[in-house]
Amino acid sequence: MSYKEIFSYKALIESELEKRVVQRDAPEILKKAMLYSLSAGGKRIRPCLMLEFYRCLGKNPDEILNFACAVEMIHTYSLIHDDLPCMDDDDMRRGKPSNHKVFGEDTALLAGDALLTLAFETACDIDENIDASRALKAVKYIADASGLTKMVGGQVLDLQAENKQISIEELEKIQEGKTAALLKVNAFVACTLANADKNTTKLFVDYCDCIGRAFQIRDDILDVIGDEKSLGKPIGSDEQMNKNTYVSLLGLEKSQQLVDELTDCAVKAIKKATENSENLCSLALKLANRDF
Ligand code: IPE
Ligand code: IPE
Ligand code: MG
Ligand code: MG
Ligand code: MG
Repeated sequence: MSYKEIFSYKALIESELEKRVVQRDAPEILKKAMLYSLSAGGKRIRPCLMLEFYRCLGKNPDEILNFACAVEMIHTYSLIHDDLPCMDDDDMRRGKPSNHKVFGEDTALLAGDALLTLAFETACDIDENIDASRALKAVKYIADASGLTKMVGGQVLDLQAENKQISIEELEKIQEGKTAALLKVNAFVACTLANADKNTTKLFVDYCDCIGRAFQIRDDILDVIGDEKSLGKPIGSDEQMNKNTYVSLLGLEKSQQLVDELTDCAVKAIKKATENSENLCSLALKLANRDF
């Protein structure tokens, strides 16, 4: 058993993501732009986590595929917008030219908007085995994690912090919003839909919180020492945009130390949460030293 089993959900997720766009009657250029980024082959870490949590809770992951796809759609929209010239101004994403480089800023912006709204439409298409009031709660978690107090709010703080020095506490707040929230939500959603008890939910959420925070620190590290080919996006972008990152505030060594400490916390939490923790432990360790 290893993290590879978690990534085995990828094919299922990708075919569902594609279907949700292809089947719709919409302007061809819009569908093309949405599919361009959706099918570009990201790691799919967020939806894979959600499905694995649900499996660990003794449930069938197929039942919540719509929720997993919703989170990946929101994440993909956030990347399209994050790369725009008015944001991080990056020309490559997932190994291909960024969406606006191919379709123009206007269509890229709208492809992002359409992915965000399609996410909520998709989340509402609930499986017959899912309780409707629990589903409503899950939709609200997803909206909250993506919105003004979390992902979008974090992106605003990230932009505001350009060209000035901030404290590590302020950076933690940015990271919690722009990145950790959309990782944590997968635990909230899986636990809510599986009707997990409070204590179990807290442990899954703690695991996600730790790997979510470690994930952004490793992302900052890879922006300095990574390889563009394996990352599929430019390196040196943070320095160029004068961003505050863990590396700029703490240096490479301390940043990686923090990643390792957070990974340790994640492993401890997930071992307490479930007897089926092997894959998730292996994933946390893999992510701590990822080069992709
Ligand atoms: C990139 O996320 C943006 C961050 C929050 C660091 P991922 O590293 O998960 O990107 P993909 O989905 O694999 O492309
Ligand atoms: C992006 O953070 C976070 C979101 C898109 C919400 P970054 O700007 O560091 O992500 P990359 O490095 O461009 O993938
Ligand atoms: Mg950014
Ligand atoms: Mg960026
Ligand atoms: Mg980055």
